[in-house]
Amino acid sequence: MTAGRFITLEGGEGAGKSTQAARLADELGRRGLEVLVTREPGGSEGAEAVRGLLLGGEVARWSPHSETLLFAAARADHVEKKIRPAIEAGIWVISDRFVDSTRAYQGAQGIDDAAILALHGFGSKGLLPDRTLVLEIGQDEGASRAATRDAGALDRFQSRGPDFHAAVAAGFRGIAEREPERVRLVDASGDAEAVTARLLAELADLLV
Ligand SMILES: Nc1ncnc2c1ncn2[C@@H]1O[C@H](COP(=O)(O)OP(=O)(O)O)[C@@H](O)[C@H]1O
Ligand SMILES: [Mg+2]
Repeated sequence: MTAGRFITLEGGEGAGKSTQAARLADELGRRGLEVLVTREPGGSEGAEAVRGLLLGGEVARWSPHSETLLFAAARADHVEKKIRPAIEAGIWVISDRFVDSTRAYQGAQGIDDAAILALHGFGSKGLLPDRTLVLEIGQDEGASRAATRDAGALDRFQSRGPDFHAAVAAGFRGIAEREPERVRLVDASGDAEAVTARLLAELADLLV
């Protein structure tokens, strides 16, 4: 049996990651592929428990260092219990966020990229996606999409200021510059159908 592929969607809140994860799953399914959609933080029972710790409570609940460790622990469980077994079973896995979110969000708080990758090596045996699609949207548009969706409620990361979100966006762009084969920046403006077409174009070489 051929192994499945591992695709991740990244980007800021409101960019359309969850919307596009579902749309991409439909498109890949239409091509006869078996698809599993999952998300981070969370995706497995243990990791979903850690998700509650990470997203709830005060902004200052965790330091950037302890937060980085919690994300790495949650991801290790998610990879071991869900992602790796699915890929090995020939399934295409689409994850709504993965290690590049830690690199962008915790990186924006001063955590060294090499340290994040070292933890990923230890916890998740360094598993990297076959392709990572970074959805790029203007900060105001992303915030307004998320605010409409959530009726104004903010989690620990959404409640940070515009400078933080600009640093996160710059972090994603930096990763794409350094790893152009794996990581692609995709314009997430316009209607969802147009965005899906852009994403599929960035997967074309994997779909042959
Ligand atoms: N291309 C789009 N144009 C307009 N609204 C969108 C688009 N894609 C998603 N949305 C809406 O914006 C909100 C945020 O999208 P979502 O997929 O939840 O983003 P994310 O998972 O990146 O935070 C949702 O209410 C969704 O229905
Ligand atoms: Mg989402």
